[in-house]
Amino acid sequence: MKPRLTPRLRTVAAMVPQGARVADIGSDHAYVPVELIRTGRAVKVIASDVHAGPVENAKGVVAAANLEDVIEIRLGSGFDVYQMGEVNSAVLAGMGGFLIRDLIIEALPLVKSLECLVLQPMVAIRELRVWLLQNGFEILDEQVAQEGQKFYEIFSVHYTGRCLETVDFKTAEMGCQMFRAEDEISMNYLAQRIQKTENVIRALAQAKDAEATELHAFEARLKLLKEAQACLSIQRK
Ligand SMILES: C[S@@+](CC[C@H](N)C(=O)[O-])C[C@H]1O[C@@H](n2cnc3c(N)ncnc32)[C@H](O)[C@@H]1O
Repeated sequence: MKPRLTPRLRTVAAMVPQGARVADIGSDHAYVPVELIRTGRAVKVIASDVHAGPVENAKGVVAAANLEDVIEIRLGSGFDVYQMGEVNSAVLAGMGGFLIRDLIIEALPLVKSLECLVLQPMVAIRELRVWLLQNGFEILDEQVAQEGQKFYEIFSVHYTGRCLETVDFKTAEMGCQMFRAEDEISMNYLAQRIQKTENVIRALAQAKDAEATELHAFEARLKLLKEAQACLSIQRK
């Protein structure tokens, strides 16, 4: 079985620090570990999954790539199957934002020791970002990956202990450095977010039972996104 690395997973792998010893939690197919070793980005990967099926799947992929000496596969939940010091980075991709948050909370001492966590939540992205910033994590890098019409937010973080008391609306919505004038994919994502927000506002405006506060929240979001787009468009010229 040859790993098929999609743009999402390629971006995740590219955000792992060079020379890392990596935990890939919720690895499933182990495509990220194989890419990390093949490109020389990681020197060792310990991949894990809470379900036996994905673990067997991952073992097959790693055996086919002949990388069993540098990629280990373990069965278990979150960071439970890792000892302090075994890895210095972690990838948690393709899971919900609340699950990622809970797995971090359950293993805080180990997580605090890591140089870098690469996170790619499928849902509750805003909630995870806000939680991280309010609980001592700093965002190191933010990227957007595109697969067809689907966009994925990916961020790398590490623990500093500096907690933000509040996270402003703009940072919660748009991250710290996710949208960049020179990055076509992030600009396409911004345009899609604007279009989707406009669609929601249109639907809410027509719905008889829509809450005014809900409509206002979407209007505020639209204003923010449009301002960012205008500002970045000027930078592109
Ligand atoms: C959608 S797959 C994502 C696979 C891969 N990381 C990716 O991004 O393509 C999510 C994987 O997370 C695993 N998973 C769910 N909860 C988990 C937990 N608590 N600990 C470890 N793995 C978990 C699931 O079994 C599944 O294989």
